[in-house]
Amino acid sequence: MSNEKKYLTTASGIPVGDNQNSITAGQHGPTLIQDMHLIEKLAHFNRERVPERVVHAKGAGAHGYFKVTNDVSNYTKADFLSEVGKETPVFLRFSTVAGELGSADTVRDPRGFAVKFYTEEGNYDLVGNNTPIFFVRDAIKFPDFIHTQKRNPQTNLKDPNMVWDFWSLSPESLHQITYLHSDRGIPATFRHMNGYGSHTFKWVNKAGEAFFIKYHFHTDQGVKNLDVDLAAKLAGENPDYHTEDLFNAIAEGNHPSWTLSVQIMPVAEAPHYRYDPFDVTKVWSHKDYPLIEVGKLVLNRNPENYFAEVEQAAFSPANFVPGIEASPDKMLQGRLFAYADAHRYRVGTNHQLLPINRSKNEAQNYQRAGYMRFDENGGSAPNYEPNSFADAPKETPENKISPFEVSGFADSVAHDSDDHYSQPGALFRDVLNDEERVRLMENFASHLSGVTREGIVERQLKLFEKVDPELAAGVEKRIGSQTPIYPEK
Ligand code: NDP
Ligand code: HEM
Repeated sequence: MSNEKKYLTTASGIPVGDNQNSITAGQHGPTLIQDMHLIEKLAHFNRERVPERVVHAKGAGAHGYFKVTNDVSNYTKADFLSEVGKETPVFLRFSTVAGELGSADTVRDPRGFAVKFYTEEGNYDLVGNNTPIFFVRDAIKFPDFIHTQKRNPQTNLKDPNMVWDFWSLSPESLHQITYLHSDRGIPATFRHMNGYGSHTFKWVNKAGEAFFIKYHFHTDQGVKNLDVDLAAKLAGENPDYHTEDLFNAIAEGNHPSWTLSVQIMPVAEAPHYRYDPFDVTKVWSHKDYPLIEVGKLVLNRNPENYFAEVEQAAFSPANFVPGIEASPDKMLQGRLFAYADAHRYRVGTNHQLLPINRSKNEAQNYQRAGYMRFDENGGSAPNYEPNSFADAPKETPENKISPFEVSGFADSVAHDSDDHYSQPGALFRDVLNDEERVRLMENFASHLSGVTREGIVERQLKLFEKVDPELAAGVEKRIGSQTPIYPEK
């Protein structure tokens, strides 16, 4: 049959004779099981959905590149950062956290900022958010925290009582919830927000020297946020507002970009810093560790197919390249396990073979087979090591992780600082202006209205008082109290 005209086939490539009328026994007779085209069509349709991400389900993504603009080779041997001007293809997925696949974009929620760098040494995934901090600082609290952000097990409704019960009992959340209820909690678009690695990571240079670092992507479009009333209106009228904005901007050639900088802390300084550098509820002050520019990230190409490129994209914080390593951050350590585990469940054992996840260099190892192994599966090459084949893949000792010392007893150990207050206090007093402070208190009050006063709201106000008495008084006044405990000055 000629290939010149496209003809319809089954998934096995067999030409289809009729795609409009199923095969029946006579005009009014039952449908015949021999209509394999009909059966395949219905059965494949039933299997179109993969599970949505358990968090960050709603998102949008785009392709682009990262270009080094400043020499950081004294700090890291990462090849993709090795020289000024070097370009690496990237894919970036933005997302909200708590909502389902079809939920509204313009809600108050952190935004995911997940970057896949397709380097010549494999994929480096930087799976961050648009906030420099997080709600909790030990992975053991993450599933409980997320349950409070999702739906009530009985009513299937979002439940502010669950949310504030958890937050008011987890004072380490204060910094992130203050950030989240500030104007930045609802970005104007994905293009107008910053991205942060949030955790502390380790960079290692060619000489084997290690540095702790934090990543900051500053939007070149400028930070812009949405007014809460407009955001609520858009959530109803155009729930895909941010998705649409990103796609249209790129389609019109209006390519968004971000400047990547790092803060660098010499390893020897970590034990003496005034904040635990591995506590993801804390930032490092810019005054202590100024930003050092690294490069520019540009998004210039929309996906051709949402499912293939955005839904099947699998980012893992454990995907490091030589020169970039984990820090002892307890949240990060938990994430190193969680993502690839989620990918094996959500996308499948061989998710790394899918085009969007496949490294640009050829992955060479002794892993074989498994569901949906759709490439040549290593062909006739050896599938074990050690082996005596000269051309079989061998380990490269220069790519071992940098050694580091550990000590102490294995135990369930809490973070050693309970200062949950000074950094949100600095945000409230020193960073936000008067109007931003008022909107913060209004946003808190609006979210807290309807939450059980006795117990939950009272416990939260006590925490706010430790951040700043003005915050507690301002929120209490806006909730409306007959007998205020925190009088305004
Ligand atoms: P700095 O004055 O050096 O930094 C304050 C930073 O706050 C700015 O550089 C900016 O970071 C960010 N910022 C500016 N306006 C707003 C806003 N309206 N809402 C939220 N963030 C804003 O002081 P420190 O480094 O000592 O930090 C003071 C406080 O600022 C921290 O406790 C933290 O709450 C907040 N902050 C600090 C960041 C950091 O990495 N040090 C990052 C973001 C917030 P950016 O350019 O990244 O937006
Ligand atoms: C997505 C777990 C903390 C950012 C996910 C997914 C899981 C997960 C299972 C879905 C992955 C998938 O199906 O592809 C966890 C756990 C955490 C944690 C266990 C804490 C222990 C964080 C933190 C950040 C973050 C601190 C940001 C700094 C993201 C982003 C995505 C995501 C951006 C979406 C990635 C994408 O676009 O595909 N997380 N997470 N998470 N998480 Fe986390």
